[in-house]
Amino acid sequence: MFSTAFLDIPPLQGASGTVTLPGSKSISNRVLLLSALCQGTTVVHDLLASDDTRVMLAALRQLGCGVDAQGTTVTITGLGGQLKHHDAIEFFMGNAGTAMRPLTAALAVLGGDFTLKGVPRMHERPIGDLVDALRLLGCKIDYLGNDGFPPLHIGQPTLKVDAPIQVRGDVSSQFLTALLMALPLAAQKQDIVIDVVGELISKPYIDITLNLLARYGIAVKRDGWQRFTIPQGCSYQSPGTIHVEADASSASYFIALGAIAEGDGIRIQGVGAASIQGDIRFMDAAAQMGAIISSGNNWLDIQRGAWPLKGITLDCNHIPDAAMTLAVMALYADGPSTLRNIASWRVKETDRIVAMATECRKLGATVEEGPDWITVHPLPNGQPIHASAQGQWKAASIHTYDDHRVAMCFSLAAFNADQLPVRIEDPKCVAKTFPDYFEALFSVAHANTQDIPVICIDGPTASGKGTLASRVAQALGYHYLDSGALYRVTAYAALKAGLSLEASDEGLIADLARTLPVRFEGDTVWLGREDVSEAIRTEQAGMNASKVSVLPGVRTALVALQHSFQRLPGLLADGRDMGTVIFPDAPLKVFLTASAAKRAERRHKQLISKGISTTLDSLRADLEARDARDSSRSVAPLKAAQDAYQLDNSSLSVEASIDQVLAWWQAKQPF
Ligand code: DC
Repeated sequence: MFSTAFLDIPPLQGASGTVTLPGSKSISNRVLLLSALCQGTTVVHDLLASDDTRVMLAALRQLGCGVDAQGTTVTITGLGGQLKHHDAIEFFMGNAGTAMRPLTAALAVLGGDFTLKGVPRMHERPIGDLVDALRLLGCKIDYLGNDGFPPLHIGQPTLKVDAPIQVRGDVSSQFLTALLMALPLAAQKQDIVIDVVGELISKPYIDITLNLLARYGIAVKRDGWQRFTIPQGCSYQSPGTIHVEADASSASYFIALGAIAEGDGIRIQGVGAASIQGDIRFMDAAAQMGAIISSGNNWLDIQRGAWPLKGITLDCNHIPDAAMTLAVMALYADGPSTLRNIASWRVKETDRIVAMATECRKLGATVEEGPDWITVHPLPNGQPIHASAQGQWKAASIHTYDDHRVAMCFSLAAFNADQLPVRIEDPKCVAKTFPDYFEALFSVAHANTQDIPVICIDGPTASGKGTLASRVAQALGYHYLDSGALYRVTAYAALKAGLSLEASDEGLIADLARTLPVRFEGDTVWLGREDVSEAIRTEQAGMNASKVSVLPGVRTALVALQHSFQRLPGLLADGRDMGTVIFPDAPLKVFLTASAAKRAERRHKQLISKGISTTLDSLRADLEARDARDSSRSVAPLKAAQDAYQLDNSSLSVEASIDQVLAWWQAKQPF
């Protein structure tokens, strides 16, 4: 997951390959609650690991359910309709609507002394219609803040279920879902009838609920979309084992990717056209815009068809979440697209109509919006004549409003014809449903090599390059290449193979280097199956690296390996010749120095802390000898690139050096 303040996505050119999607959020949280209400254990496979499911699992544990999580398989031992804990419990619901609404209903029917809270945005998301319906049933619920909104307190109910229960259907379908899942708890003696007041929105989500209730032994009778009857005497029966489908809303980003990006097409694993999730119908809208889609049992294949895409006007009531993706696809269309009947966007993680309009405008698009619709006009898409395009692509820093879908949608703007990067603020908000979204995107998207940014940090030994480079890499979410480690590992492997480190064995060492089975895993460096992290960090190993690095054949042998680190979304490379030889076109080069005295002092501290005894004088002599060799060798000597920024950190803290490099980098960005 990218936990950086922002993620800069370079301009993307195409995409091909397979992505496996995480489990559906809607199915995951329903299945968890239903499993908790059952008697006995349920093994849930392919559960989504996300903020929303973590919130639900934490709540179930608080209630006394057995929860045994092994990766994406979770075994739930249910309550059997009886609460094991009767003390006051405070639940924290984060911003998880799929946990807040159904738990409110289930807890209100079960009764207890419960407080349900969330993040500030959760306290702005309406729940009044659900509370009204539950109160009519005899549930005891009090508002702790503003009327109609969380936080709530729940007490002991006096249930009366003989008259039909009325619930509004036109604000959020989650209210009806919550009642449908909770009321079987109260149907021992008679049928329970729920009447929907007003037009029911997001019907496909109700279909998911009914489908899953049936899997748990509750056969709800449905009369149109107005009346639902829970039969007397029904009880939750565990299905034993259940598989969660991949998330169809998450699939929308990769369906759109296949429609927008040139390449051999995208395969999505984990969900097919026969999914029980309503958002799968996004594929029809994408096909209408031009995508070529085929599907099997558990997969979808998508290829780019019409280009530019075709503008559409569509009632999106049946695909409210996935429809946001259409708004970004609309930027690549041949005319304006209007998404209608999307009033529910206004009460989601953020006001999504405002969010989508504001951020599309930042990209340069013309957007019109109304109470329950949005019209997005396309931007130039690389075709010579594109009369309907209004505006020009702009490099934008996309605000994401703590809304996972805004973040995921706008990553698709990186395919813009003007080859501009896109900045996604707070990228970790995707954790709500798809923590590894950007990793999945980068695993199939490709960019021109020259567009994948490299920041080079070169300098003499013990100047602090490694710390600086890895910290800047962390701040930007970029990959990190410690090129010195490659020379260290090469020298280590050569000595192990019984070679000398002199020119006489140059060819053999070069052969070793060319096929070096080296792998970096966090701070651990692997040579084949051997963990060499410690062995290559000694002073002697540094000196040995310096010796093999003089040999031109060895340097050449390591070039391809170093280039292979330049991957999306970007790279921080540290060494001696990153800016001069390996990445001469890098957009930012830093030459880091510190006085020999200062460097010897730092290295001394480091070694002492590791319990290695040495003297300052000998260290300084070693450093200077190594500098002399690295600077005077004939190939790729240590020197600053002509266009490098000089940074002497003798009297700078690590933080100050990081800030300086980030400031130089930011000054080169178009945002
Ligand atoms: O950065 P370091 O101390 O881990 O590097 C060890 C040696 O490897 C260094 O003395 C010279 C050599 N080296 C090099 O020649 N070119 C690089 N890009 C990185 C290191």
